[in-house]
Amino acid sequence: MRELIKLKRFLKPYTISAILSMALMVVMVGLQLMLPRMIQRIVDLGITPGNMTIVWQTTLVMLGISLLNMAFAVGNTTLAVRVAEGYARDLRKDLFNKIQSLSFGNLDRLHTGQLIVRTTSDVTSVQHAVRMMLSLSVRALMLLAGSLILMFSTNSQLAVKLLPFMLLILVLIVIFAGKLQKLFTAVQQKLDKLNNVLQENLSGVRVVKAFVRAAFENERFSEANEEFTQQNIAAMRLMAVLMPLMKILLNLGTVSIIWFGGMEVIQGSMTIGQIMAFTNYLMTAMFPMLMLAMIIGMLAASEASAKRINEVMSNKPDIQDRPEAISIEETNGRLVFEDVCFSYNGKDCAKPVLNHINLVAEPGQTVAILGSTGSGKTSLVNLIPRFYEVSSGRITLDGVDLRDMKRDSLLAQIGIALQETVLFSGSVRDNIRYGRMSANDEEVIVAAKASQAHEFIMSLPEGYDSRIEQRGANLSGGQKQRIAIARALLLKPRILILDDSTSAVDVDTEAQIQDALEKAMKDTTSIIIAQRISTVLTADKIIVLDNGRITAEGTHAELIKNSPIYQEIYESQLGNGLKKATEVTGN
Ligand code: UTP
Ligand code: MG
Repeated sequence: MRELIKLKRFLKPYTISAILSMALMVVMVGLQLMLPRMIQRIVDLGITPGNMTIVWQTTLVMLGISLLNMAFAVGNTTLAVRVAEGYARDLRKDLFNKIQSLSFGNLDRLHTGQLIVRTTSDVTSVQHAVRMMLSLSVRALMLLAGSLILMFSTNSQLAVKLLPFMLLILVLIVIFAGKLQKLFTAVQQKLDKLNNVLQENLSGVRVVKAFVRAAFENERFSEANEEFTQQNIAAMRLMAVLMPLMKILLNLGTVSIIWFGGMEVIQGSMTIGQIMAFTNYLMTAMFPMLMLAMIIGMLAASEASAKRINEVMSNKPDIQDRPEAISIEETNGRLVFEDVCFSYNGKDCAKPVLNHINLVAEPGQTVAILGSTGSGKTSLVNLIPRFYEVSSGRITLDGVDLRDMKRDSLLAQIGIALQETVLFSGSVRDNIRYGRMSANDEEVIVAAKASQAHEFIMSLPEGYDSRIEQRGANLSGGQKQRIAIARALLLKPRILILDDSTSAVDVDTEAQIQDALEKAMKDTTSIIIAQRISTVLTADKIIVLDNGRITAEGTHAELIKNSPIYQEIYESQLGNGLKKATEVTGN
């Protein structure tokens, strides 16, 4: 219950509806508890003395009570549903906002696939718990207490005789509740597993097909599916045992009431009506106990869900603005790395991904980063928009530490095309405008022209209105990259970061993009990561990263003279390439 209770703040806006719903429930239970008394009245004052008026009158009153109860039940359910639905909506909204506020580091630790489950089925399961609490549990507890009290007030001696019997039922139910709790928790776990398999498989469905692994994945899914089914069956089996067992106990109870009560009736110390009321109370006392057992079992599953929701909720974004952070309006774009160390697991710089990085990018300069895969290029540029925080050292923009700026104002200065291109479902235009929805068509076209995307966009059936599918599924890799570049350019940023953004574009188009960028981004500080050396030839500064360290730095002309490692890359890419080309053409 601890985890569920932590979420109680979401009930606050619905306090009145919740209280009203419970009040209705109290009235309903009160009315329901009156019914056995009425039966007692019919038997003792109507049937036994042969007074038909009392029989009729009481029957009508009972009918009235039942109708009233029905009306109250509708009101109660409507209110409870409203509370639970509102609660779930607010919870989902908060979870979503929370996830949006998290940093890259937080998100690395929470797996995105699981986040979908957490915002959907976990919320539903918690919502379920709220509904049960609001309607069932109150009802069950009150019925139980009420009928026990009424049993004692009807005939305390008989009630005392039944006490051991009821204790036995209670013990049984507690045992069952414990078992059910375990089973339902296991059901939830199996469901999680099923969700995980499904999630992973669906997001990688193309790879599955490409590697003809459908059969393997089928098996994996079937296994999870089967486990889930079996676990559910096990839970239901227990319930199936519980029900008839309760029936037997109930019948035994009824028999003992008639046995002990019958003797009292013979002795004249009890009426037949009282016996009937008694058996009725026993029934109204037993079913709530059964209900409670089930509720306790199901709460276990909701508790597991609540725990996972709280796990997300309790995440503090590990990148937050310092209280004294300033908002920057204008920058020149002078970017300096001062002895920066970085590792993905935070402070510890023993095994850094980036090691003692010192780098100056002057306003308007283009700095190109070369380096083999895994050398830390992406990690380096990700520090500029503070997707991750440096572990030691500092990065400054116009002399101000990035950590002393409001992060939103920093991001407003940066246009970035990430290494992994992500587009959203929607029109081409909206995808380009993603960072600045207010941009007009002319601006969109200018950006698209600079990234050499205009031409292919115009060749699409509906031009800029053409629909892009989820994740850009209906575009080629190079087309996606060019839209992503246009998206970054549209912001007219002071700092432009392109992380391997032309890797899927042919060499000619790449050269055109570079020409256009040079013209359009004269005053912009550009950081460009590239695999191909041809991309970086004209850069103002080239740095070569190796294993997280800068091993060479300078212009192409300088490096080709002084840096063996650069010469090597050059040779391997262009030198040989040229040689081969000449061999083929015979020149
Ligand atoms: P990078 O992602 O910075 O390398 O990872 P890169 O130079 O850009 O490589 P390519 O060219 O895109 O392939 C640098 C190191 O950081 C680790 C990786 O294992 C890699 O060795 N890393 C990266 C993490 O530990 N966690 C991450 O989330 C990303
Ligand atoms: Mg990379």
